[in-house]
Amino acid sequence: MSHAAESQHPSGGRHGRHGHRHLLETAGLGAADAYRILDAAETFFEVSRRPMRKVPTLRGKTVINMFFEASTRTRTSFELAGKRLSADVINFSGSASSTTKGETLRDTIATMEAMNPDVLVIRHSASGAPHHATHYTRAAVVNAGDGTHEHPTQALLDAFTMRRHKKELRGLRVAICGDVVHSRVARSNIHLLRTLGADVCIAGPRTLLPSGPEWLGVPAYDRVEPALEGADVAMMLRIQRERLTGALLPSMREYSRTFGLNPRRLALCKPDCLVMHPGPMNRGVEIDPEVADGAQSAILDQVEAGVAVRMAVLWQLAAEPHEPLPG
Ligand code: CP
Repeated sequence: MSHAAESQHPSGGRHGRHGHRHLLETAGLGAADAYRILDAAETFFEVSRRPMRKVPTLRGKTVINMFFEASTRTRTSFELAGKRLSADVINFSGSASSTTKGETLRDTIATMEAMNPDVLVIRHSASGAPHHATHYTRAAVVNAGDGTHEHPTQALLDAFTMRRHKKELRGLRVAICGDVVHSRVARSNIHLLRTLGADVCIAGPRTLLPSGPEWLGVPAYDRVEPALEGADVAMMLRIQRERLTGALLPSMREYSRTFGLNPRRLALCKPDCLVMHPGPMNRGVEIDPEVADGAQSAILDQVEAGVAVRMAVLWQLAAEPHEPLPG
């Protein structure tokens, strides 16, 4: 597991309550650690398809999901993941908490810490908030998406989905298209997919791309067509209206016409190209409904993978050291 910027070693750094590490980012997450999670997630994927979708692995452990920013997929899948592992799961919503009365993040984390949790899952609009939290808790901290920084479990579930469909990540040509500059999903995916040997590029309007012909070591295009040509995976990103400041785009209609994934653009990719989107989607903006719901779409597979991957992450962070994988 990766820790934070201060870590001396990708898998080192400060430890949580049981000596387990945190998962704050995919930058610095080594291939062996990533594959350990992806392989464990295969087991939990099978568990999640059984008639009895529960295992005793985290009985007696406590997971607190702290969501200071809106979420559908990540919040529900972390809750399900914890419950399927038999942990006690508490869901904390920022908007219904004492932060609305002025309590700081530091005091909120210290308050949770006083209840002896094993894992804190944190989503926050401020980049670095989960890292900040590690200073005030001995629980393992999982970043469930922080500002424009990272969303490591999204990248892991994306890699899991690609591997299930394509068998091998090494050499896979992945085009990440859209609002890259605001996307924590893009950042986490680029770090992880490069570590695992995929061939990644990014594309989008110049105003929504980081500056320069490369970003994080991957080529950047200001048109989507060259990125999509011959792609094995087309990953479309949501236009993040809540993070757009100023007139970065002329109109959503024009964006859709110039950058949206429609059947004509999909035809530029390999015939078996996988269509992915982390959600939530702006249908008819970055992706045509026909493509989102089409035969090549893996969007709901990503959601299913999210539960298994998050079970694997919680298992890695909170299970007793000699607790075997179920089944
Ligand atoms: N992909 C993702 O993070 O979705 P939510 O915001 O619904 O959790």
